Amino acid sequence: MKNLPLLFCGIFFALAFSFTGLILSSNIQIGSLNQTTQSLDENGNNIAGETLYPLKTAGLAKQGKQVYIEMGCIYCHTQQVRRQGFGADYERNWGPRQSVARDYIMQDRVLLGTMRRGPDLMHVGGRPLNADWHHLHLYNPQITSKGSNMPPFAFLYETHKIEGEPSPDALKFPPNSEYGPEEGYEIVPTRDAEALVEYLLSLKLDYSLPEAQIVE
Ligand code: HEC
Repeated sequence: MKNLPLLFCGIFFALAFSFTGLILSSNIQIGSLNQTTQSLDENGNNIAGETLYPLKTAGLAKQGKQVYIEMGCIYCHTQQVRRQGFGADYERNWGPRQSVARDYIMQDRVLLGTMRRGPDLMHVGGRPLNADWHHLHLYNPQITSKGSNMPPFAFLYETHKIEGEPSPDALKFPPNSEYGPEEGYEIVPTRDAEALVEYLLSLKLDYSLPEAQIVE
């Protein structure tokens, strides 16, 4: 092993090079990003008293994010909106502006995604789809979106026999739906399904940032 010092030098430089390229340079570029108000005052500071964005995901929505990860939604859905002129994200109404690095700073796990077999979900909470719609869609996408190739997540729901009053949480199937439960039964979301829908509704890009204003 007469070339041991050379070997160590090689290992050192390979590691130092990748550390600089991957970690140090990204940290210099975006490591100092903080929450901010939607626009800045003339000195470039946050405007006192205004809400700081991005908001942190909390409560039930935070639990729902875990369900989103466990169910593998990321294999078909991204959470990143491209800027106007780059692809058709804006025209598809996937978000009122592009997403930027600062949008993700409050997230412990960033779910950018790489594959778009379904629509981008960065702003899904800002679309006119309410909790009832999401539950039916998750239970079986064919109910709301005929021909969809999203798999059903029916195992996140339970079928109960109706005893007394029907449950207020029961899924609201369209009349005579072939996917509805048998007479006398109802389908209710589990806690995981409730949390997942809460998370989906919390995904919104409805605030401006100094570097990315909402496109009117
Ligand atoms: C195999 C790929 C695939 C997986 C996995 C998948 N989806 Fe989808 N998703 C799609 C496709 C395709 C569509 C478009 C058709 C439709 O609306 O069903 C879609 C549509 C959606 C929509 C409607 C968005 C809109 O703007 O209309 C939501 C919400 C959604 N998916 C949530 C989820 C969640 C939550 C999960 C995980 C539990 C998930 N998807 C897993 C493929 C997938």
